[in-house]
Amino acid sequence: MHKDLEKILITEEEIHEAAKRLAAQIERDYEGERDIVLVGLLKGSVQFMADLLKNIDMMCTIDFMCVSSYGKGTKSTGRVNIIKDLSEPIDDKNVIIVEDIIDSGNTLSFIEKYFSAKNAKSVRICTLLNKPSRREVEIDVDYIGFDVPDEFVVGYGLDYQEYYRNLPYIGVLKPEVYS
Ligand code: IMP
Ligand code: MG
Repeated sequence: MHKDLEKILITEEEIHEAAKRLAAQIERDYEGERDIVLVGLLKGSVQFMADLLKNIDMMCTIDFMCVSSYGKGTKSTGRVNIIKDLSEPIDDKNVIIVEDIIDSGNTLSFIEKYFSAKNAKSVRICTLLNKPSRREVEIDVDYIGFDVPDEFVVGYGLDYQEYYRNLPYIGVLKPEVYS
């Protein structure tokens, strides 16, 4: 375990199992559909996106978007900026947003509206982690890997000040690292 962590919350094996479970659910739900695009939110979704993709056995494309609501702290600011937009149009596409964690819900609420305004045929959300206790805006999350408690977690794509994204597990950061 990395020395800056208090404990490991979710292991790599558990994440792989979750990716398989969610991919199977997605395959069932989208049977007979066409024009499916998985949109990963950078940078946090990279590891999870790769796992999910490998397990989805149907015709689909991928795209990425980068938005920021956090700045460098550990609390959401509620304001969302687009840093990198989609590279292909999504009108009439079935969009599955792939996210690392849903916290306040501000980021996803913004992106759902943004995609609907771009005339997506459907928009669903697939997140590795969900922190329901911290929700500020209500959103429907269709696919959830794990619910996590109200602790700041890093690893498997999730960062603190851009670090720890490379860890192959999810862990709780020691509070003294960010206080
Ligand atoms: P929201 O807009 O508050 O739902 O925040 C979503 C974004 O905040 C995620 O995409 C993460 O980048 C970041 N975030 C929220 N909670 C955590 C955490 O515990 N660890 C690392 N990043 C987090
Ligand atoms: Mg982040």
